[in-house]
Amino acid sequence: MSGPGGTVLLGIGGGIAAYKAAELARALVQRDLAVQVVMTAAAQEFVRPLTFASLTGRRVITDMFSSASPEATLSSAVEHIGVGQEAGVLVVAPATADLMAKFAHGLATDFLTTLYLAFTGRVVLAPAMNTNMWRHPATAANLETLRARGHRIVDPEDGFLACGMIGPGRLADPETIAEAVWQELHPRRDLEGETVLITAGPTQEPLDPVRFISNRSSGRMGYALAEAAAERGARVILVSGPVNLAEPAGVRVVRVRTASEMREAVLANLEPATIIIKAAAVADFHLASVPEQKIKKTAARLSLALDPTPDILAEVGRAKGGRLLIGFAAETENLRQEARRKLQTKNCDMVAGNLVGREGTGFDAEENEVILALRTGEVLELGRAPKRVVAGRIFDEALKLRLALHALDER
Ligand code: PMT
Repeated sequence: MSGPGGTVLLGIGGGIAAYKAAELARALVQRDLAVQVVMTAAAQEFVRPLTFASLTGRRVITDMFSSASPEATLSSAVEHIGVGQEAGVLVVAPATADLMAKFAHGLATDFLTTLYLAFTGRVVLAPAMNTNMWRHPATAANLETLRARGHRIVDPEDGFLACGMIGPGRLADPETIAEAVWQELHPRRDLEGETVLITAGPTQEPLDPVRFISNRSSGRMGYALAEAAAERGARVILVSGPVNLAEPAGVRVVRVRTASEMREAVLANLEPATIIIKAAAVADFHLASVPEQKIKKTAARLSLALDPTPDILAEVGRAKGGRLLIGFAAETENLRQEARRKLQTKNCDMVAGNLVGREGTGFDAEENEVILALRTGEVLELGRAPKRVVAGRIFDEALKLRLALHALDER
């Protein structure tokens, strides 16, 4: 059953997001992967197996013991455990709270959970569920167990859920999940030997012991870059402002709060870095002298004199030596012009410019739409994509750029 790109088992759990697994199946097939779908009984309540049989060109495994359904390929449980032997990756999407609990505790109550236990390849889990279920300590503990087992978790997105709640729990974009599966099947190690220093998230500048100035950065762009670099074999140091994200596997995370702490952490880790990426949204101003006591509500108007924070990117630009320096530019207008200006003034090799202040991309969004201004003079448009996909493209272009710059230097 092997496809040119490899073979994947796609397990589908019983949640409203099961319909999105059809898009995932299509994205996998488009990557020339052979896809064998396994549906739980609950999943079949949401989508019919025929949908997946049509998309993948193969019959769907629907349960452990019955071969009555014309859409099932079952002859015996043992035979179907054999299905797993050919596949390099088992991806489960949506991975419900129930499935994750069963995986974590080794329960084999149906075909998919039995297959999971018998499977020796790589596992990718894309959870999707109600926000409260996602946040429940039981789910968090199961997730921790599964992460520790080395499984790749494609975290759910924040958003409007079918149950009417708004929050984390929505299945990740099918393209992001397909990309994760592809990476598991065909790991690229083209960043082996590199040390990548990345900044992510906002900074918080205190105004008094309880108040601060900050911005809407979620850290997702920087964390996506850290994840992508680690997967491709780099040693990664992630200097992170206060965010609410899980630490990427295999990444050293240095937590900071203010711009000045971020500057110190960056400078302390500059020496081994070969590539530096500044995706953090650093506050441009701070209160130089923070009062020890809470500011009282006494005057009708409060004026605060703010001083500029250190420009970390510009400072690194002056000290970068032979390192590849990539800055970001968050703009509400004149994106190309501003990205090029920051490339020059901060001595960067590449500036990733994103238009911010728009719904769905940039700050606190799952996707980003980025242009890359390069030191060679070129400007590339990456188009809108999940941040994980954008991160991969930034590294692709960074490696090409370094070769081009070396070639220019040698002339
Ligand atoms: O975190 P997310 O929610 O995923 O959102 C991602 C993002 C929109 C924050 C990210 O894609 C992004 O654009 N990051 C840079 C935001 C920013 O501060 O841009 P800027 O144009 O103000 O700064 C230009 C560059 O200088 C940036 O690389 C910034 O890290 C750096 N800088 C800025 C000020 C400062 N005092 N020191 C700096 O190093």
